[in-house]
Amino acid sequence: MLKLLVCVSGGGTNLQAILDAVDSGKISNARVEAVISNNAGAYALKRAEAKGILACCISPKQYESREAFNRALTQKALELSPDLIVLAGFLVAVPEEMIRAFENRIINIHPSLIPSFCGVGYYGLHVHEAVLARGVKVTGATVHFVDCGMDTGPILLQKAVEVRQDDTPKTLQERVMEEAEWQILPKAIDLIAGGRVTIEEGKAKIL
Ligand code: GAR
Repeated sequence: MLKLLVCVSGGGTNLQAILDAVDSGKISNARVEAVISNNAGAYALKRAEAKGILACCISPKQYESREAFNRALTQKALELSPDLIVLAGFLVAVPEEMIRAFENRIINIHPSLIPSFCGVGYYGLHVHEAVLARGVKVTGATVHFVDCGMDTGPILLQKAVEVRQDDTPKTLQERVMEEAEWQILPKAIDLIAGGRVTIEEGKAKIL
């Protein structure tokens, strides 16, 4: 049984999609062991508590320096000792020490088709604003492994979503979540839990 640590910052709809997929059996052989938020007010924490899952907040605001926050977050992850860490809308940079401690065991959901609209400054609604500003006709979501770069790790799954002419950043965000994110994030976890994913020469392969 794969032990998951899910890291969140906000509403937690991706966390909910994971919890629902575990309940329905779409994800087998995995369970959410703990949820960490960097934001005490995140609704995602309530979703975890409602399920009786260990939920805690580790915020940069609680520490005198970024280094101290990074140490605390990494320490907590090491204590929990998950098999896989899932960044489900976690909008702070994961400390390098944590990435090294969990090499190839951290995945992230990003709301675009990487390598488009990713990297510094591209998170949440900003991604969809940029998509509309550029006028692309297709966007989507990506699940990738986390390495020490920003959105540069091996890509595991992607799903495309049509951009409509009358979309606003909000309507596009909602459609990308519903049609892509909530589908491919649980699917990626199920593939990993089933032992069906390897990383070879920097690329994720599905067996
Ligand atoms: C999601 O759209 C996720 O892809 C995005 O934040 C949102 C969180 O929503 N993540 C990023 O932008 C990471 N770069 P949620 O809290 O409802 O799951």
